[in-house]
Amino acid sequence: MNDPKSDKILRNVLEAISQAPKNVYSPREDSYLLLDAVKSLNVQGKTILDIGTGSGILSLYCALLGADVTAADIDGEAVQFVAGAAERAGAELRTVKSDLFANISGKFDVILFNPPYLPSEDLKDRTVDGGPEGRVLIDRFLNDLSTHMKTKGVAYLLVSSLNNPSSIERAHPEYEFASAAKQSLFFEEIQVLCARLRNNLSSQGSDG
Ligand SMILES: C[S@@+](CC[C@H](N)C(=O)[O-])C[C@H]1O[C@@H](n2cnc3c(N)ncnc32)[C@H](O)[C@@H]1O
Repeated sequence: MNDPKSDKILRNVLEAISQAPKNVYSPREDSYLLLDAVKSLNVQGKTILDIGTGSGILSLYCALLGADVTAADIDGEAVQFVAGAAERAGAELRTVKSDLFANISGKFDVILFNPPYLPSEDLKDRTVDGGPEGRVLIDRFLNDLSTHMKTKGVAYLLVSSLNNPSSIERAHPEYEFASAAKQSLFFEEIQVLCARLRNNLSSQGSDG
């Protein structure tokens, strides 16, 4: 059932990001599927890291629901656009130009990533090109994720059937994976993988 408050917030967000520059990724099916998964979380008061924020749709939505949001992207134009869109929407968040976690410090309750996942020979278009099997950014993200997740934290990662999700899960046994949302598209199925640290890891370290 649709929640009128969250519908109103989404309309406000879409208005604020409607004039995104052409090189900044505007929301598509993958963005909305991830947004649907986020809607099932209670984000108020949570620390959220949105990696590859693009237009900022996820960051702005969470910030307007009362989350403490860090919006990060490798693309300076996207970062600048999101800062302006946040002002237009009346949302408070911090923006960081960062190659994945390179300029990120601290640990988060929720980490979001809608990666460039299309199989490609190289990484020319950073908004969509994912290299062999579309896996380059996905694997790099999962390799470093555990350092930035609180012990009871959760990550929502968008993947496609083109990325061979079961092999992603096998390659990263440090996480327990579940599927939070799925959608069939013309030539692929996209899904949101929900990743949590396995118990043996979650008993180590602090959340500082
Ligand atoms: C598919 S778009 C997703 C945008 C937005 N999160 C959404 O769901 O609509 C992928 C985003 O990841 C960013 N990106 C690509 N490589 C990155 C990297 N190494 N570190 C951080 N962001 C990256 C791109 O600039 C782009 O904004």
